[in-house]
Amino acid sequence: MRMKMRVIAAVVASGAIATTVFLETISNSRAQTKARYLPEYTASGDLILPKDFHEWVYVGSPLTPNALNGGHAGFPEFHNVYIEPGAYEIYKKTNEFPEGTILFKELQLTLPAENPDGSRTEPSGRGYFPGPWNGADVTVKDSKRFAATNGWGYFNFNHHEPKAPTAKVKAKEECAYCHIASAKKDEVWTQFYPLLDK
Ligand code: HEC
Repeated sequence: MRMKMRVIAAVVASGAIATTVFLETISNSRAQTKARYLPEYTASGDLILPKDFHEWVYVGSPLTPNALNGGHAGFPEFHNVYIEPGAYEIYKKTNEFPEGTILFKELQLTLPAENPDGSRTEPSGRGYFPGPWNGADVTVKDSKRFAATNGWGYFNFNHHEPKAPTAKVKAKEECAYCHIASAKKDEVWTQFYPLLDK
């Protein structure tokens, strides 16, 4: 009987150790778990088209169809927006976009129109349905490199396919001015992305 008690005590004690180890694993998991993909530049400072962005965290798809914009929307496609997952993991904790954050806006045409407003009728209803990709715009946070545009760099990788392999930074009058004027948070339109709007 005594013997048995000792065995139980040992099991309980080792259980306590196991619990401690387990808790440590959990608290360690609060550290960065996603490897970050940071912006890559050519020797002359052009941004290299970010890799694997289709596997990033998807935040939303604004749509400004031609039919609602006098027949000539600047961007008649879906604007599918992604954030690099390592930056998103930090954003969730700090509520701030860390240095090196990349936001990727891929343009995606709607499937050919069947109705005068550019829409189609599909089994789910009448509306706009995603078709071929059509180029991309990218922003990168780097307070030093892009100090002239309040810490974000703006890049266009074509408004057609294939996307350009590299892109030059755009002047403030081309891109940043509008984001600075009306985007809700740190030049990002978080008002359109519930995942980032906090
Ligand atoms: C006249 C205003 C305006 C200008 C100029 C402009 N943008 Fe934007 N941009 C927007 C708006 C509004 C959104 C939000 C979603 C949408 O409608 O596409 C946006 C979204 C984006 C996003 C997705 C991330 C975010 O901040 O929401 C990127 C990336 C982006 N723009 C890059 C660019 C680049 C690169 C240029 C210049 C080539 C540019 N923008 C010029 C208004 C503008």
